[in-house]
Amino acid sequence: MASSDQGSSGAPKPVPGSYGLPVIGAVRDRLDFYYFQGQNKYFESRIERYGSTVVRMNVPPGPFMAKDPRVVAVLDAKSFPVLFDMDKVEKKNLFTGTYMPSTSLTGGYRVCSYLDPSEPTHTKVKQMLFNLLLSRKDEVIPTFRSNFSSLLATVESELAKAGKAEFNKLNDVTSFDFIGEAYFGVRPSSTDLGSGGPTKAAKWLIWQLHPLVTIGLPMILEEPLLHTFHLPPFLVKGDYKALYKYYSTAGKQALDMAEGLGLSREEACHNLLFATTFNSYGGLKVLFPGLLANIANGGEKLHERLVAEIRGAVAEAGGKVTLAAVEKMELTKSVVWESLRLDPPVKFQYGHAKKDLEIASHDGVFAVKKGEMLFGYQPCATKDARVFGSTAGQFVPDRFVGDEGSKLLQYVYWSNGRETESPSVDNKQCPGKNFVVLVGRLFVVELFLRYDTFTATVGTELLGTSVVFTGVTKATSGPGS
Ligand code: HEM
Repeated sequence: MASSDQGSSGAPKPVPGSYGLPVIGAVRDRLDFYYFQGQNKYFESRIERYGSTVVRMNVPPGPFMAKDPRVVAVLDAKSFPVLFDMDKVEKKNLFTGTYMPSTSLTGGYRVCSYLDPSEPTHTKVKQMLFNLLLSRKDEVIPTFRSNFSSLLATVESELAKAGKAEFNKLNDVTSFDFIGEAYFGVRPSSTDLGSGGPTKAAKWLIWQLHPLVTIGLPMILEEPLLHTFHLPPFLVKGDYKALYKYYSTAGKQALDMAEGLGLSREEACHNLLFATTFNSYGGLKVLFPGLLANIANGGEKLHERLVAEIRGAVAEAGGKVTLAAVEKMELTKSVVWESLRLDPPVKFQYGHAKKDLEIASHDGVFAVKKGEMLFGYQPCATKDARVFGSTAGQFVPDRFVGDEGSKLLQYVYWSNGRETESPSVDNKQCPGKNFVVLVGRLFVVELFLRYDTFTATVGTELLGTSVVFTGVTKATSGPGS
């Protein structure tokens, strides 16, 4: 079913679409995006209107935060990967899109996510992160298990008390401690930060992401407050300082290593803070609720299959959760990939055309000029029916199982690269790629070692999905019981 990414036919066509009137067009589109249409409809309706998955449009926030809201959107599985090609796109200062948060939110530095691979500091910082993750690889499984088994124990006591347990709140606290302990061996909650880490982190994240979110207030308040001007950085300075203190102390070994790579301690520390708090914590804040929601909706039949696979592999490994045992769990891995495909936690990607380009979609080839902003809305590309067929919009747990299934992995793009490719200092693919797929699987393992099945209600919140546990059935057999 997968269509070829190679080859194109016919002379390049101009990209269809419209930006409307200056300023007014962009503001009107912003309101469509947030309030009148919503994200998915915003893109789908433009694909339909112009009969093309490569289409010109404005993207938020627009005036007055973004100098230029105009983009060429690439919205199918075939055109999207142009954003991964470092010969074709430049990725300088566009991690958050058409606006860039003030560098006073990151100690005055442009941190790794905003650097193009052609900038020497990009190589140094990304190498520091690869080294850090490698040096801590044996800590991930035990640290994950101790943190998340304690989360599930709290779920059970809340269920007993109140008949429900809000997963997102528990996840925020647990993921923040888990990451600190996994990367640096020091739980943030056991330092001066106390229990305040996740709240300080969330506030700092909002200061960077407010142009791209709605918090459910009336449009008349949100527009001036969130979508027109930057929130002043000084209001979050104290929170940042407290976080920085944790990283500069707990991250001592990583910082020593960074100096060896030619980074100053200070630049390395602001980067550690960003990669840990924004990239990692921000990622897990969205990843686990999305994964849990899909598994909850999968129902008892899926739970039974996961129980059998997980407990079987753990029993074979002598009752231990080892990396080798986790590698044997094909359905579990497919479930994690399917969730990342259906609900990619980071939905927007951007890149400036480095030269005049021809971009091929399923339907044609389009001409783009040097300097134009390319933009991908990932859910359109990873739910492309011409690759994933009539079930493209559904959660199919075993989609990636077996030889046929694994051929589809090249169309999973959550890490800003194909799932079949690897991050390096020369590209912009997420250096946490393997870590993320591992902790996703560990999350499923922990659930089904402990429970035969569970129920939950699923909703939405600021950055993604919200999940409330409503019941759990404790394991009746195997190593989890
Ligand atoms: C880059 C997603 C976890 C560190 C990226 C990008 C995406 C992404 C889409 C590319 C952004 C762009 O340039 O347009 C995610 C998701 C995660 C996650 C969905 C979790 C669910 C992590 C973790 C780390 C990390 C655990 C820890 C090291 C980074 C860094 C970059 C990056 C440093 C910039 C890479 C570069 O400049 O070459 N991530 N990420 N991320 N991610 Fe992740």
